[in-house]
Amino acid sequence: MIAATINDTEVLVEEGSTVLQAATKYGFHIPTLCYHEGLPAYGACRMCLVEITQGASSRLESSCTRPLEQGMVIKTDTREIRGHRKMIMELLLARCPDAEVVQEMAREVGVTESRFSKLNEDCILCGLCVRACRDAIGMSAISFMSRGIKRHVDTPFSMNSDVCVGCGACARVCPTGAIRVEDYGAKRYVRYFNTELELQPCEECGRYFTTKRFFEKNKNDFVGADELYRLCDACRRRQHASMLKGPLVNVHP
Ligand code: SF4
Ligand code: FES
Repeated sequence: MIAATINDTEVLVEEGSTVLQAATKYGFHIPTLCYHEGLPAYGACRMCLVEITQGASSRLESSCTRPLEQGMVIKTDTREIRGHRKMIMELLLARCPDAEVVQEMAREVGVTESRFSKLNEDCILCGLCVRACRDAIGMSAISFMSRGIKRHVDTPFSMNSDVCVGCGACARVCPTGAIRVEDYGAKRYVRYFNTELELQPCEECGRYFTTKRFFEKNKNDFVGADELYRLCDACRRRQHASMLKGPLVNVHP
């Protein structure tokens, strides 16, 4: 276990915990935009800055990426930290003025307007979609491209991805709603990434229930009868239930 001090409270947490996890465990709220507990931390937004003192030195660090160390003294809400968070929110508010998540967090830290020119982007460059695709799904269909003001998330050469399986994990984690996954007819469109995929119909009812690429990718991992894998969830449950209702032992040979 590791002992440290957060906002004058002694804390004791498991080894390997980050400063953010320790603070959250003890009820100290730290604002975050690019953190997701199911994905590796990346430290993109810097909203989770805290002041860390070790020995004679103090500095601001992002709490989501910083492992807690024995004897650290941490402050989560000083005047300097509030100033930094306000500046970050002003920049984000200029970048994505219409994103609800940005507006909400701006209000939370006391920012009502930005002094910077509006860019009207949808993406706050949090990288959650990139990490979800790479670390949760194992596909790496998208990544950060370019630098500076041109930095954005995309497929290679902004082309229809031949890697994306259309699972929609990127859209589910995106805090701004920039990514939309829509089905029309026999196609799925991943709008932010110029990608379209063929859908797979259920062999029982004919309803499209996944993409062909996702279907092919996972078929060897399916635990169960092959004919069940080819069905949508509803038909699979129905089929499974009727299989269970059938005679377990043939009593009339
Ligand atoms: S598209 Fe969404 S999830 Fe991806 S980096 Fe931008 S805001 Fe984050
Ligand atoms: S939440 Fe820690 S840097 Fe974004």
